[in-house]
Amino acid sequence: MSKNSLGLPIGTTLDRFIKKKQDEFPYATGELSQLLRDIALAGKIINREVNKSGLLDIAGAYGSKNVQGEDQQKLDVIANIRFTRALRNGGQVCAIVSEEDEEIIHLNPNCRYVVAMDPLDGSSNIDVNVSIGTIFSIYRRISPVGGPVQEEDVLQKGQEQIAAGYILYGSSTMLVYTTGHGVHGFTLEPSLGEFVLSHAILKCPEDGKIYSINEGSWKYFDKGTQSYIEDCKERDLTARYIGSLVADFHRNMLKGGIYIYPKTENTPNGKLRLLYECNALAFIAEQAGGQATDGHQRILDINPTSFHQRSPFYIGSTKMVAHAMSFLK
Ligand code: AHG
Ligand code: MN
Ligand code: MN
Repeated sequence: MSKNSLGLPIGTTLDRFIKKKQDEFPYATGELSQLLRDIALAGKIINREVNKSGLLDIAGAYGSKNVQGEDQQKLDVIANIRFTRALRNGGQVCAIVSEEDEEIIHLNPNCRYVVAMDPLDGSSNIDVNVSIGTIFSIYRRISPVGGPVQEEDVLQKGQEQIAAGYILYGSSTMLVYTTGHGVHGFTLEPSLGEFVLSHAILKCPEDGKIYSINEGSWKYFDKGTQSYIEDCKERDLTARYIGSLVADFHRNMLKGGIYIYPKTENTPNGKLRLLYECNALAFIAEQAGGQATDGHQRILDINPTSFHQRSPFYIGSTKMVAHAMSFLK
């Protein structure tokens, strides 16, 4: 097995990796390590459900709408329940905010961590066997441990995240996360049921050739974004758009590219949610050497004012994001 600059070989299990990293911090209590393991377990459980889609009666619409008025898919609801249950049983989390729930879910008040999550991202791709994902952000609560969780514990800037990641249910299942010391990727080895280190230190190329945007909404884009997309075409870049943010972001981080969900005429703040989608991926992008903005300011600097707040999103290779910004001035 080849060693890398982490000193841990490719193939190291996630459990062992987390333990080793924890040992590098003399005052670590092990709570965050346990929480990351709980999230990995939740990911494996959701992976199992996702893999059964098409076999059991879990595909299709659930028949209800979420807090944002979007149709919930059965797997959205299942993933939300499974994730919440895994974090409740794990016992490290005082509260969860989820794209699928209107209010805070209060868990153990004696814990220090708050989790924000998009339990299933890319729902429109569930029924057609295309990559989907789970996104999570972890914050340390501000209010005293033991008391009820407050809004201020949840409405923290993205730069306060102490860890963030995603699970990608793709041609293989991957867990990618950061604790602010680089980005590491683990691939699920199905016969072992273990995530093993496959991408030791993920780096986003400084520049790239891929642009990802839903061009069907072209006529609703702002002039700046329209001009940037024209420029991409002029320069013979490649268009790639899956419609699952996690999968589009993951590809662009590996290959070099930009993902854009701009504001539109009908959606002045774009579509994507700051707390559940943008912040986690922005943290990972920056840790991988990339960049994320809302068109004007760094995503991680935005002060959220509501749980389900949306934000325009420009994320990926630094040079591409900077170039896109130059059209928005
Ligand atoms: P979710 O399934 O969690 O609601 O997120 C869907 C998001 C994101 O994954 C994707 O990039 C985007 O919506 C696609 O939106 P369009 O269909 O408007 O392109
Ligand atoms: Mn989503
Ligand atoms: Mn979702």
